[in-house]
Amino acid sequence: MSEMNANNEILIHVESGVMTITFNRIEKKNSISSAMYATMADALVQADSSSVVRVVVFQGHEAVFCAGNDIEDFLKGPPTSQESPVMRFLYAISSFTKPLIASVCGPAVGVGTTMLLHCDLVYAGDNAAFSMPFVNLGLCPEAASSLLVPQMLGYHRAAEALLLGEPFMAEAALEVGLVNRVLPPLEANNYAQAIARKLAAKPVSSLIETKRLMKKGQAALVAQSIGDEAKSFGRMLSEPAAKEAFGAFLEKRKPDFTKL
Ligand code: COA
Repeated sequence: MSEMNANNEILIHVESGVMTITFNRIEKKNSISSAMYATMADALVQADSSSVVRVVVFQGHEAVFCAGNDIEDFLKGPPTSQESPVMRFLYAISSFTKPLIASVCGPAVGVGTTMLLHCDLVYAGDNAAFSMPFVNLGLCPEAASSLLVPQMLGYHRAAEALLLGEPFMAEAALEVGLVNRVLPPLEANNYAQAIARKLAAKPVSSLIETKRLMKKGQAALVAQSIGDEAKSFGRMLSEPAAKEAFGAFLEKRKPDFTKL
């Protein structure tokens, strides 16, 4: 068993072959700073090559999974290269070779939802609310969501999720296949752990090969989408619509895009 942390905002715990990565920044709704991305990227790289870790679980609090990028931090240090912490995290999670499980309760905003597209199993509390409000922030999809959301939801439901950016609840996520099972929020993390232990008892070589075979058809496309989206996202971050959206968030007012 081992413990590591990044200012305690990401907790990493390894036990019985399962690495659990916990968002622990509840006062900021588990929004993710660069330092937190870096910690998670390093943990995933380490887990992938580790002979001890066989499964990774992401979890948050029973009231909130993750509010996406830390907006203030993101504006101070926007990602400018493929080596930036957020990009390292996206490439690490999308190419991770062992089973990835997520337990999601409460809001899962932006990358809080798109990271789930790279998890193999997702369990949700009945209070889970998924949203990808990139357009509302003057931005565009990330984490290969422009590729994977239409594939998973079908085009029209994807357009609703990505163009309107409104939240959808756990039952709707279950219906479209984004989550495997809906549970009472206080049970979700324990359930995910039980499934992780079950997987960790299986032959890891078979888990890795099965996942590779399921994903190999579009692994290169996923990596390319992440890169293409990042170029647009990076450019759009400094454009007027995003400036207005982020300014409005920080000033706690509604954005006004009517003059843009
Ligand atoms: N980045 C930075 N700070 C954030 C944040 C984010 N993504 N999301 C929430 N916070 C902060 C709020 O500013 C607030 O800080 P304060 O207490 O210092 O004022 C605190 O977390 C609590 O947030 P609040 O909005 O009051 O909580 P809520 O329960 O009413 O709503 C959310 C929760 C997640 C629905 C809402 O915070 C939200 O929509 N956040 C923005 C998510 C977003 O747009 N993410 C995409 C970024 S690319």
